[in-house]
Amino acid sequence: MLPLADPHAQARTAASSDALVLFGGTGDLARKKIYPALLAMVEDGHLDVPVIAVARKALGADGFRQYVQESLPQARSRQGAFAKLARLLGYVQGDYGDPATYRALRGALGSCRRPLYYLAIPPSAFPAVVAELGRAGGNEAARVVVEKPFGRDLASAQTLNATLHHVFAEEAIFRIDHYLGKEAIQNLAYFRFANSLLEPIWNRYHVANVQLTMAERFGVEGRGEFYESVGAIRDVVQNHLLQVTAILAMEPPNEMRADAQRDEKLKVLRSMRPLAAGDVVRGQYRGYRAEQGVASDSNVETFAAMRLHVDSWRWAGVPFFIRAGKGLPVTATEVVVELRRPPRELFDEPTASHANTIRFELGPARVAIAMGVRTKAAGTAMVGRDVELYCCNERGGGMDAYERLIGDAMRGDGMLFAREDGVEAAWRVVEPSLEMTTRPLEYDAGSWGPNAADAMVADAGGWHSPSRAPSE
Ligand code: BG6
Repeated sequence: MLPLADPHAQARTAASSDALVLFGGTGDLARKKIYPALLAMVEDGHLDVPVIAVARKALGADGFRQYVQESLPQARSRQGAFAKLARLLGYVQGDYGDPATYRALRGALGSCRRPLYYLAIPPSAFPAVVAELGRAGGNEAARVVVEKPFGRDLASAQTLNATLHHVFAEEAIFRIDHYLGKEAIQNLAYFRFANSLLEPIWNRYHVANVQLTMAERFGVEGRGEFYESVGAIRDVVQNHLLQVTAILAMEPPNEMRADAQRDEKLKVLRSMRPLAAGDVVRGQYRGYRAEQGVASDSNVETFAAMRLHVDSWRWAGVPFFIRAGKGLPVTATEVVVELRRPPRELFDEPTASHANTIRFELGPARVAIAMGVRTKAAGTAMVGRDVELYCCNERGGGMDAYERLIGDAMRGDGMLFAREDGVEAAWRVVEPSLEMTTRPLEYDAGSWGPNAADAMVADAGGWHSPSRAPSE
């Protein structure tokens, strides 16, 4: 592989990308996430550069346009926007390991000199594509977007990073974790640091525990083969959930710039203890082994619950409980920060009162921030009830995560992307749990996972489970 003469030349190039090159243009991710995002970008006036897909299928330019149209049911009602997008589309057919593909790509790029290469391809194809891009040259002003999973453990993540760094400077690499592009997750950082009321209580003196649940009602939905290669911990914990935990636990960055924020997140990830066996519960929903593409003796986990220890000055001793699973009762991601109880229970109430909470509903159906407190119920007795004060309560909304992230990458803004050191630190945390390959505990689809996950939080008073959205 040919290294660039000066990889840092890329970092100095602040100009927007002048083309988007999509490797894996006929794949699942492109159809489900990327084309809808591109249509929205065109509609919002955020995309007017050539979009060239590279894939193996013999489609031709017209065939490719038709393929994109068929992937976008919404194109029918947004014909003007689709027509604009269609004018930007180009197609290069070829093998990812064949230099001729890259010569054809160079031809298709014409005068464009600052492409954003989007690798929406299986990680096994990364090395060949990156090597050929390096060989083809002319990447001084190029950027590259890579999709998770960023490796499958620490060693493979390091190898992947080395492969990328051979051709691209770190500042030119955009590792997509689409959770970071979500409006609700940006609001976590905003709400923490745009208000002064949280800071005095956001620490071990006032917080009893922090809980993060990512629940999905559905199973693997035809992605059995992919899921078999990852499992819940690699699929969503190492990336989405640890990134959210890092935002919750980080120190205020000195400025809202990419590296200032990523430095703070890195400190949190580095202060997390690698997971010990007693801090992890793995589960598998009954029926998973019968899913298409799943081995009949599969030990891949579809559920994971864990107790994280953040050994920092601010958080020492505060458990961070996180759980993620498929086949659970609802589809919702939620954070609950539970505060310590008042020093004495003054009121003789028939049922124990709840501790105060700060709850962040992170979607997909609802996005809300609510504070749980007690107020007195009317009457002669000093008996109260739990109420929640809503700071915001919306039905999703905001820009779609992929639209936001592709736009940011094209402008060279890395704030909402994972950095190499953060990715590696997250692998270090979960790595011991990847070695747990014994049979996971079974649970019924539609339940909250194995009982052992409840036992883990029993001392903290149990899990706060997200409720079902009215639309579910
Ligand atoms: C993806 C995982 O990264 O995130 C999926 O591979 C998961 O398994 C998905 O379902 C959840 O994302 P969202 O945005 O739908 O909550």
